[in-house]
Amino acid sequence: MSSLNLVEQSKRSAAFAAVDKHVGPTVRVLGVGSGSTVVYAAERLLELKRLNKLHPELLCVPTSFQSKQLIVDAGLRASDLDDLPELDPGSGSFASIDVTIDGADEVDAELNAIKGGGGAHLREKLVAAASRKLVLIADYRKDSEVLGDKWDKGVPVEVSPLAWSTIKRQLERMVPKSRVQGVSTADAAAAFEFNHPIAVLRQAVRKAGPVVTDNGNFILDVSMGKIYDPLAVEQLIKMVPGVIEVGIFSSMAAEAWFGNEDGSIACRY
Ligand code: 5RP
Repeated sequence: MSSLNLVEQSKRSAAFAAVDKHVGPTVRVLGVGSGSTVVYAAERLLELKRLNKLHPELLCVPTSFQSKQLIVDAGLRASDLDDLPELDPGSGSFASIDVTIDGADEVDAELNAIKGGGGAHLREKLVAAASRKLVLIADYRKDSEVLGDKWDKGVPVEVSPLAWSTIKRQLERMVPKSRVQGVSTADAAAAFEFNHPIAVLRQAVRKAGPVVTDNGNFILDVSMGKIYDPLAVEQLIKMVPGVIEVGIFSSMAAEAWFGNEDGSIACRY
């Protein structure tokens, strides 16, 4: 019997299923996400490597310091995003990665996601954007109808340390009506729930100062209740000067795999 608890078991089964479906001998470039669920994806990659079921020259693109360690520890080769050629020149796509497998903090019914609980969402989004396909893996607690329904720690927003408190004030003045799609505020549906979002500077353990990302920036966790229009909220936050990246991934994922409480696996696409 497995010694993993239910949540860890569900992360592991989602990760194994997604790797088995998407990472075979024909995959040459793989994006590797960050977080505790991705650790199980790396475990499966190591097994597949030992079974000679991976491309002999597989290159892995990390999304964080942790992710690079996972790649190296699995005996795989890490590559930088900018060192990779386009996969389909002339096609209109700029993808350089076959598939990326990454975790998520919450995934809604339309495959929009909140990411950045581990503070790696800038590089995660860059790698996802350069991928032909983004596949999310998560335990059952992250499976949601509407973003913000289950994840209660706010939307992670990576910001410049030069102006974090000014950015915090601007984010807290955001209004729920969408102003970014050319719709008058009176007619627009609410993009998010709260009238006044609350933005909290992420602190290191034991209040040892702000968390500093792999890129030297700070993180504001912005609580705004339910997010009804993820794209509008993503655009709205990105318009604030000094915001480097927002942890809303609107319409980027092609699939999400969830380990269920009863031990089964669900795939949404
Ligand atoms: C890091 C992330 C992670 O993928 C996300 O926080 C999920 O982490 P975990 O698998 O530990 O629940 O976005 O920036």
